[in-house]
Amino acid sequence: MLALEDLAYAHRGQTAPYRFSMHAASGEVTAISGPSGSGKSTLLDLIAGFLVPTAGTMTLDGADLLVLPPEARPVSILFQSETLFEHLTATHNVALGLPRGTARDEARRKVDAALAEVGLPGVGQQRADTLSGGQKQRVALARTLLRNRPVLLLDEPFSALDDESRAATRALVKSLTAAHDWITVLVSHHKDDIAALAARRYDLREGRLLSLP
Ligand SMILES: Nc1ncnc2c1ncn2[C@@H]1O[C@H](COP(=O)(O)OP(=O)(O)OP(=O)(O)O)[C@@H](O)[C@H]1O
Ligand SMILES: [Mg+2]
Repeated sequence: MLALEDLAYAHRGQTAPYRFSMHAASGEVTAISGPSGSGKSTLLDLIAGFLVPTAGTMTLDGADLLVLPPEARPVSILFQSETLFEHLTATHNVALGLPRGTARDEARRKVDAALAEVGLPGVGQQRADTLSGGQKQRVALARTLLRNRPVLLLDEPFSALDDESRAATRALVKSLTAAHDWITVLVSHHKDDIAALAARRYDLREGRLLSLP
């Protein structure tokens, strides 16, 4: 369980600080909706450790996350686009998820298995800039698989996709979350995404997260 209790933060010049309280469970997608500018990306930046809160707590299965710098947090992030190095092959991009010093044969085997798991066997040698938007998101998910971090943060990850690859990528996120027991936090203002994916929902309004039924 990822638990935020009264996590406070204010951007420079912001008079009423955000105060975020939420719970997100393993194997589930927790969706965050809210108007543009309401603070959804700020919330993800706090979880990832790119922003430092001024008060409150954040724990993962009871362990304090706030003491960890961003690179040590058990968190992966997937943005709307531009998450791949365009001039590198799919294989190379996925391999970036492996720990440094992984042996060549093992790396090859793990990358191939991850690409197969996201439904992209055979694109390994293609450069990222020759892949479709949906394929790129899948390659990014394969990299996330190899990183093997329990918290996955998704910031509007499907908005650049057409309806068909949107539905397919959505289904993939849901099945990977369940299969690997990820705690997936999805920011989206797309009602279909939330309906298809979310086990829990919060709406961000006036600096607070409201739990939705
Ligand atoms: N680095 C920053 N410095 C000052 N203000 C910021 C900074 N980053 C974001 N803000 C402000 O904080 C508010 C929340 O921004 P945030 O990006 O979290 O919103 P959002 O809900 O993700 O919006 P969107 O749906 O458009 O992506 C906005 O008013 C924004 O202008
Ligand atoms: Mg945002």
